[in-house]
Amino acid sequence: MAEDGPPTRELEAMSLESKVKWSKYSKRVLIKSILGRGDGGVALAGEKVIVGGWVKTGREQGKGQFAFLELNDGSCPANLQVIVDSSVRALGDLVPTGTCVVVQGELKKPPEGTKQNVELKVTDVLEVGSVDPIKYPIPKTKLRLDFLRDFVHLRPRTNTISAIARIRNALAFATHTFFQKHGFLYVQTPIITTSDCEGAGEMFQVTTLFSEAEKVEKELKENPLPSDADIEAAKLLVKEKGELISHLKSLKASKEEISASVVELTKAKENLAKMEERSKLTAGIPRKDGKVDYSHDFFARQAFLTVSGQLQVETFACALSSVYTFGPTFRAENSHTSRHLAEFWMVEPEIAFANLVDDMNCAEDYVRFLCQWLLDNCLDDMEFMVKNFDKTAIDRLKMVSSTPFKRITYTEAIELLKDVKDKAFENKVEWGIDLASEHERYLTEVHFKKPVIVYNYPKKIKAFYMRVNEDNQTVAAMDVLVPKVGELIGGSQREERYDNIVERINEMGLPIEPYEWYLDLRRYGTVTHSGFGLGFERMILFATGLDNIRDVIPFPRYPGKADL
Ligand code: 4AD
Ligand code: MG
Repeated sequence: MAEDGPPTRELEAMSLESKVKWSKYSKRVLIKSILGRGDGGVALAGEKVIVGGWVKTGREQGKGQFAFLELNDGSCPANLQVIVDSSVRALGDLVPTGTCVVVQGELKKPPEGTKQNVELKVTDVLEVGSVDPIKYPIPKTKLRLDFLRDFVHLRPRTNTISAIARIRNALAFATHTFFQKHGFLYVQTPIITTSDCEGAGEMFQVTTLFSEAEKVEKELKENPLPSDADIEAAKLLVKEKGELISHLKSLKASKEEISASVVELTKAKENLAKMEERSKLTAGIPRKDGKVDYSHDFFARQAFLTVSGQLQVETFACALSSVYTFGPTFRAENSHTSRHLAEFWMVEPEIAFANLVDDMNCAEDYVRFLCQWLLDNCLDDMEFMVKNFDKTAIDRLKMVSSTPFKRITYTEAIELLKDVKDKAFENKVEWGIDLASEHERYLTEVHFKKPVIVYNYPKKIKAFYMRVNEDNQTVAAMDVLVPKVGELIGGSQREERYDNIVERINEMGLPIEPYEWYLDLRRYGTVTHSGFGLGFERMILFATGLDNIRDVIPFPRYPGKADL
């Protein structure tokens, strides 16, 4: 069988000398490999293919003589026009939007004057997954994205969510390509952790104490605890059985008789042990000295979902030099904004022998690489975004991929914002504030009209691990701000000096114990190192121009919402 041939013998004949590319692991030709060619599929006229997909729109024509189906299989934004004659199969259940069909037929050049380059004339309908159009929640009318959030399991069928899925996939691939190309090693950091990286206390706790407590509660309802009298009676029975054995021995009873009594004694002892164990069961969460006793919890200590893989990935940077992690992170902040999720993905490179300037250079190159990648690999989906959501999306990618980012210090940013006359900010501007989204967006959208890297922030508003500058007021931190989004990246040079980092942990009122292992990286063979975190969904917002972060992650989680 040819490398790209269809997977069964019956289909082999069709692919021999075929100009189309057969999918190796499903019995069909991807619609992208027909319509995504430079000629839009024109040269494939006359080829016999099988395609599968979901009907976007279907209509019967010629008084029910034939049906036109716009078929999409998710491989590209374009639909393949499929024509089914009523002599091939009854047409009624093929046309509703959402119907799944697998059809076999011949690609044809359509009549002059139609917009298609190629269409499929069906000779056989191989499979149908029908839809009741009255009940199907995703009709073909244009649907609002917030409406679709109630159907996260069906929304991938829409043009928008499928385009975003392809863009997201491309950005993930581009991420690995960029870092692999520059010699970074991909490290998988844990999702469950015992240390709070950002020290902001916005962590989801991981515990089995509640489910255990519920189990005990249920068990006690079904099987009440043994009373003291029950236990006393069980003890008495053990005593009696013991005495009986001594008595039998003194009477020189037979071996069989004694063994039988020993069996009974063992049983009585087991029963007592069980009762005593059960009597220790208490309903509710175990407590000690007025506090929850986590020694009874699954990890025998408090544990959380990670807010960032940074601290752990630093352990590998401090051994393997250039590394990155890319995974889900969790924040239990009660934010209802269009830029925050409770579960989001972060790309976090960490570079040894690198200072803040190296870090900024890496962040800038990475973001520009992502933009260029989308222009090179996802232009059809980006054109869809331009047409439907943001006219400037492609121009923005072009601008970012070709323009050096502006770099200013936090102090310069504050001075600049203080002088702003054309806009009244809701949040007061003064040295020491954490820049609000309105300030960030003003800098990047209005003032510089390009990505801006703000660096050297006041230490008071930044995390403990950031390197303190000579002035002892600021830290070697940097944020990359981009139009549409504001903060896309947060990063810093890390505090590699043991005494300084201990001081910072204490200053911030954090407990030392959970960070002891992190301090070891400074105790033994410490190294200048830097890194950053790019919010993956924010990058997708920036690229697509969509307004809400809940629409660019497959399964959004935010306060009050965790479907599926
Ligand atoms: O600035 P942050 O909090 O930085 C860190 O977590 C560092 N440990 C990263 C590092 O140096 N390795 O988060 C990094 C980025 C932000 O710039 C933002 O793009 C995104 O993560 N982000 C969020 N995205 C969606 N929802 C949220 N709740 C987010 N919080 C941060
Ligand atoms: Mg940040």
